[in-house]
Amino acid sequence: MAGFTERENLDRIADSLALQGWMVVDDFIEPALTAALIGECRASKKRGDFHHAAVGRGKGRRTLPQIRSDEILWMQPPGSGDAQRDCLERFEKLRLLLNRTLQLGLLDFECHFACYPRGAFYTRHVDQLRGDDHRKLSCVLYLNENWLAEEGGALRVYLNGDCAEFADVLPQGGRLVAFLSAQFAHEVLPATRERMSIAGWFRTR
Ligand code: OGA
Ligand code: MN
Repeated sequence: MAGFTERENLDRIADSLALQGWMVVDDFIEPALTAALIGECRASKKRGDFHHAAVGRGKGRRTLPQIRSDEILWMQPPGSGDAQRDCLERFEKLRLLLNRTLQLGLLDFECHFACYPRGAFYTRHVDQLRGDDHRKLSCVLYLNENWLAEEGGALRVYLNGDCAEFADVLPQGGRLVAFLSAQFAHEVLPATRERMSIAGWFRTR
């Protein structure tokens, strides 16, 4: 879905979110920025900066590889490389637009790189942590070049409460998926190749 300006993309995101509470846009960032982000992500990974992702909060927080087996690195604003700074700026533009158009009252954005080694997954969950409704809008930006359907690794977004209906989104580089954090259960299916993304949340206080 090439050929939209950045502004048109932002408007399409706002329209879809208002209508259905979730959306996918294919060219949220351009291939050069995707490539630069993969570069920064791989460099940090090589340095050993990533750690196994945990689930739960407070005292109950622990790594549970049977629930999620990805490795993550939280991004520290303003970002520790040029690509991360550019990327965080795009999310800031999106935040301002969503506040203008949808009155979501989003105050900040937190995000991490995520690396799912071959075969890794994240079982069905909701991003809003129990007893904490600060996460309003979940965003996942994919960094994988030329992803093929047969490689698996889709994000499965459940579209209604009983999880009978779902949409599978392939983790194609440059693609952004966003959904209301309280509303949409989702899971990451295992892939036959390493899968990189930036997962982030717009928050209220
Ligand atoms: C998450 C998550 C989805 C993805 O990190 O909470 O659901 O497609 N990620 O990586
Ligand atoms: Mn999630």
